[in-house]
Amino acid sequence: APVYLKDYTPFSHLVDEVHLTFQLEPAKTRVISRIRFRPNPDATAAPLRLDGEGLVLLWAKIDGNPVTPEVDEAGLTCTVPDAPFTWEAEVEINPEANTALEGLYRSSGMYCTQCEAQGFRKITYYPDRPDVMSIFTVRIEGEESVLLSNGNPVASGDGWAEWHDPWPKPAYLFALVAGNLVNHPDRFTTASGREVELNIWVRPGDEGKCAFGMEALKRSMAWDEEVYGREYDLDIFNIVAVDDFNMGAMENKGLNIFNSSCVLASPETSTDANFERIEAIIAHEYFHNWTGNRITCRDWFQLCLKEGLTVYRDAQFTSDMRSAPVKRIEDVIALRARQFREDNGPLAHPVRPASFVEINNFYTATVYEKGAELIGMLKTLVGDEAYARALDLYFSRHDGDAATIEDWLKVFEDVTGRDLSQFKRWYEHAGTPRLHVTEDYEGDRYTLTFRQETPPTPGQPEKPPRVIPIALGLLGPNGDEILPTQVLEMTEAEQSFTFDGIPSRPTPSILRGFSAPVILTRPSSNSERAFLLAHDTDPFNKWEAGRALARDGLLSMITKGAAPDDLYLDAVLTMARDDSLDPAFRALALALPSQDDLAQSLHEAGHSPDPQAIWDALETLRQARAHKLQDLAPRLYAQYQVEAPYAPDAEQSGARALANAALGLITRLDGGAQAQAQFDRADNMTQQLAALANLLQAGRGETALAAFYDQWKDDRLVIDKWFSLQVLHAAPDRAADITRALTEHPDFTPRNPNRFRATLGALAQNHAGFHHASGAGYALLAQWLKTLDPINPQTTARMCTAFETWTRYDAARQDKARDALEDLLDLDGLSRDTTEMVTRILEA
Ligand code: ARG
Ligand code: ZN
Repeated sequence: APVYLKDYTPFSHLVDEVHLTFQLEPAKTRVISRIRFRPNPDATAAPLRLDGEGLVLLWAKIDGNPVTPEVDEAGLTCTVPDAPFTWEAEVEINPEANTALEGLYRSSGMYCTQCEAQGFRKITYYPDRPDVMSIFTVRIEGEESVLLSNGNPVASGDGWAEWHDPWPKPAYLFALVAGNLVNHPDRFTTASGREVELNIWVRPGDEGKCAFGMEALKRSMAWDEEVYGREYDLDIFNIVAVDDFNMGAMENKGLNIFNSSCVLASPETSTDANFERIEAIIAHEYFHNWTGNRITCRDWFQLCLKEGLTVYRDAQFTSDMRSAPVKRIEDVIALRARQFREDNGPLAHPVRPASFVEINNFYTATVYEKGAELIGMLKTLVGDEAYARALDLYFSRHDGDAATIEDWLKVFEDVTGRDLSQFKRWYEHAGTPRLHVTEDYEGDRYTLTFRQETPPTPGQPEKPPRVIPIALGLLGPNGDEILPTQVLEMTEAEQSFTFDGIPSRPTPSILRGFSAPVILTRPSSNSERAFLLAHDTDPFNKWEAGRALARDGLLSMITKGAAPDDLYLDAVLTMARDDSLDPAFRALALALPSQDDLAQSLHEAGHSPDPQAIWDALETLRQARAHKLQDLAPRLYAQYQVEAPYAPDAEQSGARALANAALGLITRLDGGAQAQAQFDRADNMTQQLAALANLLQAGRGETALAAFYDQWKDDRLVIDKWFSLQVLHAAPDRAADITRALTEHPDFTPRNPNRFRATLGALAQNHAGFHHASGAGYALLAQWLKTLDPINPQTTARMCTAFETWTRYDAARQDKARDALEDLLDLDGLSRDTTEMVTRILEA
């Protein structure tokens, strides 16, 4: 049954202290709890209700006297004194049998936990909700050499260790790790002089992959002090790498747990993109210490309070460490690919949802990435200085609180005197606004008229107008900027803005920096797009113009059988050979819209997308581009080879990105000779993987694939790449077969989420392959989701999003997709997670 935001009530009791003792055994771990409760003066008196799932209760006591609570599937109820009391209980759990990777589980011989959102109830009976905060003391008894929990170490001896976390926290931030691990240690001194011990803990053999993560951590700690005035608040900060993990990482207080793919890095095994992502995730989890831990969420509806803000903060960090324009372009590409797709389909939901069945299904691009966009818009609307003051107020007013979006908006209202009630609609209404623009030029007056409109989303037929910050610049006929960026504040459904003293008809550069997460529908000529690509001073809109030019050309090829657009080819040649432009920018401007992006655009324009036609058009355009740039590509390739020792910084990765984009062009004409040469001499993963991808693309990857496997068969993270690359580069009619064959490989296992995503997740990303007319892609994925669901509901449910676009396609494909989904829904005992997802998708 769904839970509703409007039904929130505080918990009956407050929790002053929690003492936990873990007696670790793979198949029967004992958890002994001693919890100090007292009646909550702000709640109505009630019997004690504790959450608990899959626990064997051995005994329970209140104030030392045995009690017999009423136990059910979801927890227990117990009559308690109307005064402070001590609850004690012992439960048995089975970490080894825990394949869902939620609660306490085993991974590669170590114990670890994942409690967010509601995993703590699988560890012991407890009020497992974020507004119940307490001080935890933890004793771990186990034979592993390393026994970790939150907070500071108190004492340890042979086979045991004790930890105390002085900061009150909700149960979802609890963590425990036990294993025979090795560490990569370091230190950090905070601005006020606190000496902090830092560790990254890994399995023996992975020590060599910790240095980059550690440097990223120290840079994150310094950055949060400088930019947000936030210091670390414990004597120790531990990070642990775990191979089996449902998500990227988790911000447990003082003990962050990472999917090993999101922390382990070395030049030989990780690509430049991996390094950038690892740096961002380390920062993200560290930043949660303030935005998430010190200030947490009142309930799970407020998830975007911590996630949107923390994603926004990690994006700022990456912009400061690397190139801000490049980061912005990358983020918008990802936002459109994941969030716009979600927002315009059956799974659309508000940034702050009003109800859910399974909260794990709401760790979405909308909550995270659109949530971050809302922070960016707020900052644009109030200005940098007011943003800084609002954040200071937020930290001082709400430190130690379990807060809400209302609290968050209130600090901005109090600091600026603005009324943010219209802005709040961004949190409450799902859907991507369409922004229509008309222009008028008369005398020397230029007028832009905007009209906003948001299509209905599930459960929300009507959409009132939102406040939209529109960053605008105007260019004169020679490409000079006649109006530098200013922010128009649109609040009405339709609204005009006039500019006087404009000597000739300008070219508008609208939505600079992508100042709002909307779809701009303004029709524009190819020549105007080429003009903006050449002259716009805003790097985002410069890129956007090139992207739109490429997209429009592709759409004409797909729907009208047009030839590749000469204006695009000329413009891209001019752009690519302009050595004054950042190589990383040029690499991004050379990338074409994805097949799924094109399907989204076709759907938006009222067509039913034909995946094979999309694939064909991209192939044709790539071939035409290779010819057009045939002189330039070898020049770029040679010019941007990096001779210096490998460093994963912005400059080197930009050069490699451009050289590898050139390699892509070259491969189309030389059949893979250059790619083979690069593969043979590559000494870093960025070069090796790009070469392998090109060889697969050219149809001559077999030998290199075998060599790659042989070289890396003992490195799980690299073998994940080996699995996914083959699926991603499979021809549309071969994708399902190739994926199926890989699931029969001895290294394939559905128990490891990374491996499952590398294989079946890659199939979902091979657009023309997954949506192949045969329906083989749909059937294969659904069959594997049926296998995975009893093992790991969370990852299964997440991967159902592969089907979220099913109604875009033709009737025959829809029938096949529906059959696959109904077949999945029919599975006996299908999890709540997957049931919710499939049901919502089918209701489209
Ligand atoms: N809070 C974590 C992060 O964003 C994500 C954990 C999500 N876990 C889950 N089971 N849904 O860093
Ligand atoms: Zn997060």
